[in-house]
Amino acid sequence: MAGNRTFTMIKPDAVKAGNIGNILQKINEGGFRIVAMKLTKLSTEKAGEFYAVHKERPFYGELVEFMSSGPIVAAILEKDNAVEDFRKLIGATNPAEAAPGTIRALYATSIGENAVHGADSDENAAIEGNFHFGGVEMF
Ligand code: RTP
Ligand code: MG
Repeated sequence: MAGNRTFTMIKPDAVKAGNIGNILQKINEGGFRIVAMKLTKLSTEKAGEFYAVHKERPFYGELVEFMSSGPIVAAILEKDNAVEDFRKLIGATNPAEAAPGTIRALYATSIGENAVHGADSDENAAIEGNFHFGGVEMF
Protein backbone atom coordinates (compact mmCIF):
# COMPACT_ATOMS: atom_id res chain seq x y z
CA MET A 1 0.00 0.00 0.00
CA ALA A 2 1.30 3.47 -0.89
CA GLY A 3 2.31 5.59 2.08
CA ASN A 4 1.28 9.18 2.75
CA ARG A 5 4.65 10.86 3.33
CA THR A 6 7.55 11.84 1.12
CA PHE A 7 10.81 13.70 1.56
CA THR A 8 12.04 16.63 -0.56
CA MET A 9 14.92 19.07 -0.81
CA ILE A 10 14.92 22.38 -2.66
CA LYS A 11 18.43 22.15 -4.09
CA PRO A 12 21.16 24.85 -3.94
CA ASP A 13 20.50 26.10 -7.50
CA ALA A 14 16.85 26.88 -6.74
CA VAL A 15 17.64 28.47 -3.37
CA LYS A 16 20.32 30.67 -5.03
CA ALA A 17 17.91 31.66 -7.80
CA GLY A 18 15.35 32.87 -5.25
CA ASN A 19 12.82 30.14 -6.05
CA ILE A 20 12.03 28.83 -2.53
CA GLY A 21 8.72 30.69 -2.48
CA ASN A 22 7.69 29.66 -5.99
CA ILE A 23 8.46 26.01 -5.30
CA LEU A 24 6.64 25.99 -1.94
CA GLN A 25 3.63 27.47 -3.72
CA LYS A 26 3.67 24.61 -6.27
CA ILE A 27 3.94 22.13 -3.37
CA ASN A 28 0.93 23.72 -1.64
CA GLU A 29 -1.09 23.84 -4.86
CA GLY A 30 -0.22 20.18 -5.40
CA GLY A 31 -2.11 19.35 -2.21
CA PHE A 32 0.85 18.51 0.01
CA ARG A 33 0.93 19.45 3.69
CA ILE A 34 4.29 20.41 5.23
CA VAL A 35 5.00 18.16 8.21
CA ALA A 36 8.58 19.37 8.88
CA MET A 37 10.81 21.91 7.12
CA LYS A 38 14.20 23.63 7.53
CA LEU A 39 16.76 25.75 5.72
CA THR A 40 20.09 23.99 6.13
CA LYS A 41 23.36 23.21 4.38
CA LEU A 42 24.93 19.81 3.72
CA SER A 43 28.65 19.30 4.30
CA THR A 44 30.39 17.32 1.54
CA GLU A 45 30.45 14.36 3.95
CA LYS A 46 26.70 14.57 4.60
CA ALA A 47 25.88 15.05 0.89
CA GLY A 48 28.03 12.03 0.07
CA GLU A 49 26.22 9.98 2.69
CA PHE A 50 22.78 11.12 1.50
CA TYR A 51 23.50 10.15 -2.13
CA ALA A 52 25.60 7.05 -1.26
CA VAL A 53 23.36 4.90 -3.50
CA HIS A 54 24.87 6.78 -6.49
CA LYS A 55 28.50 6.23 -5.35
CA GLU A 56 29.45 4.23 -8.42
CA ARG A 57 27.78 6.59 -10.93
CA PRO A 58 30.00 8.89 -13.04
CA PHE A 59 28.15 11.99 -11.80
CA TYR A 60 28.57 11.22 -8.06
CA GLY A 61 31.45 13.65 -7.43
CA GLU A 62 29.68 16.49 -9.22
CA LEU A 63 26.43 15.72 -7.42
CA VAL A 64 28.07 15.79 -3.97
CA GLU A 65 29.89 19.03 -4.80
CA PHE A 66 26.69 20.63 -6.08
CA MET A 67 24.50 19.49 -3.18
CA SER A 68 26.98 20.91 -0.66
CA SER A 69 27.54 24.18 -2.58
CA GLY A 70 24.94 26.24 -0.73
CA PRO A 71 21.84 26.19 1.46
CA ILE A 72 18.97 23.81 0.75
CA VAL A 73 15.44 23.49 2.12
CA ALA A 74 14.65 20.01 3.46
CA ALA A 75 11.04 19.02 4.12
CA ILE A 76 8.73 16.13 4.88
CA LEU A 77 5.44 16.33 2.99
CA GLU A 78 2.12 14.57 3.51
CA LYS A 79 -0.59 13.59 1.01
CA ASP A 80 -2.27 10.37 -0.11
CA ASN A 81 0.11 8.50 -2.45
CA ALA A 82 2.78 11.08 -1.57
CA VAL A 83 5.90 9.56 -3.18
CA GLU A 84 4.38 8.92 -6.61
CA ASP A 85 2.34 12.14 -6.71
CA PHE A 86 5.34 14.24 -5.71
CA ARG A 87 7.52 12.66 -8.43
CA LYS A 88 4.76 13.66 -10.89
CA LEU A 89 4.74 17.22 -9.54
CA ILE A 90 8.52 17.62 -9.93
CA GLY A 91 8.83 16.01 -13.38
CA ALA A 92 11.66 14.07 -15.04
CA THR A 93 15.27 14.28 -13.76
CA ASN A 94 16.30 16.06 -16.97
CA PRO A 95 14.32 19.34 -17.21
CA ALA A 96 14.38 19.05 -21.01
CA GLU A 97 12.20 15.95 -20.58
CA ALA A 98 10.07 17.24 -17.69
CA ALA A 99 6.36 17.70 -18.44
CA PRO A 100 5.20 21.32 -18.84
CA GLY A 101 4.17 22.94 -15.56
CA THR A 102 6.25 20.58 -13.40
CA ILE A 103 8.69 22.11 -10.90
CA ARG A 104 11.73 20.96 -12.87
CA ALA A 105 10.29 22.21 -16.17
CA LEU A 106 9.79 25.61 -14.53
CA TYR A 107 12.88 25.98 -12.34
CA ALA A 108 15.60 23.41 -13.21
CA THR A 109 18.48 24.44 -15.44
CA SER A 110 20.16 21.09 -16.24
CA ILE A 111 20.03 17.37 -15.44
CA GLY A 112 22.53 17.95 -12.63
CA GLU A 113 21.15 21.22 -11.25
CA ASN A 114 17.50 20.28 -11.26
CA ALA A 115 15.96 22.40 -8.49
CA VAL A 116 14.38 19.68 -6.32
CA HIS A 117 14.82 16.20 -4.92
CA GLY A 118 11.95 13.77 -4.41
CA ALA A 119 12.24 10.45 -2.59
CA ASP A 120 11.71 7.47 -4.92
CA SER A 121 10.02 5.00 -2.54
CA ASP A 122 8.19 4.92 0.79
CA GLU A 123 11.20 3.20 2.31
CA ASN A 124 13.65 5.86 1.10
CA ALA A 125 11.25 8.67 2.09
CA ALA A 126 11.39 7.37 5.67
CA ILE A 127 15.20 6.93 5.63
CA GLU A 128 15.78 10.39 4.10
CA GLY A 129 13.27 12.10 6.42
CA ASN A 130 15.01 10.53 9.38
CA PHE A 131 18.42 11.59 8.00
CA HIS A 132 17.36 15.25 8.20
CA PHE A 133 14.72 15.25 10.94
CA GLY A 134 15.46 12.28 13.21
CA GLY A 135 14.19 13.11 16.68
CA VAL A 136 12.52 16.37 15.55
CA GLU A 137 8.86 17.07 16.29
CA MET A 138 6.52 16.65 13.28
CA PHE A 139 3.42 18.77 12.65
P1 RTP B 1 16.57 13.07 -7.03
O1 RTP B 1 17.04 11.78 -6.39
O2 RTP B 1 17.49 14.23 -6.71
O3 RTP B 1 15.14 13.38 -6.71
O4 RTP B 1 16.62 12.92 -8.61
P2 RTP B 1 16.07 11.70 -9.48
O5 RTP B 1 15.54 10.62 -8.60
O6 RTP B 1 15.17 12.29 -10.51
O7 RTP B 1 17.41 11.23 -10.21
P3 RTP B 1 18.52 10.22 -9.68
O8 RTP B 1 18.76 9.22 -10.76
O9 RTP B 1 18.17 9.73 -8.31
O10 RTP B 1 19.80 11.15 -9.62
C1 RTP B 1 20.06 11.94 -8.48
C2 RTP B 1 20.56 13.29 -8.90
O11 RTP B 1 21.83 13.17 -9.49
C3 RTP B 1 22.00 14.20 -10.46
N1 RTP B 1 22.27 13.62 -11.77
N2 RTP B 1 23.16 14.10 -12.58
N3 RTP B 1 24.84 14.52 -14.82
C4 RTP B 1 23.97 13.51 -14.84
O12 RTP B 1 23.85 12.77 -15.79
C5 RTP B 1 23.13 13.32 -13.67
N4 RTP B 1 22.24 12.34 -13.53
C6 RTP B 1 21.69 12.55 -12.31
C7 RTP B 1 20.72 15.01 -10.49
O13 RTP B 1 20.84 16.11 -9.60
C8 RTP B 1 19.72 14.00 -9.98
O14 RTP B 1 18.58 14.63 -9.49
MG1 MG C 1 16.61 9.83 -6.96
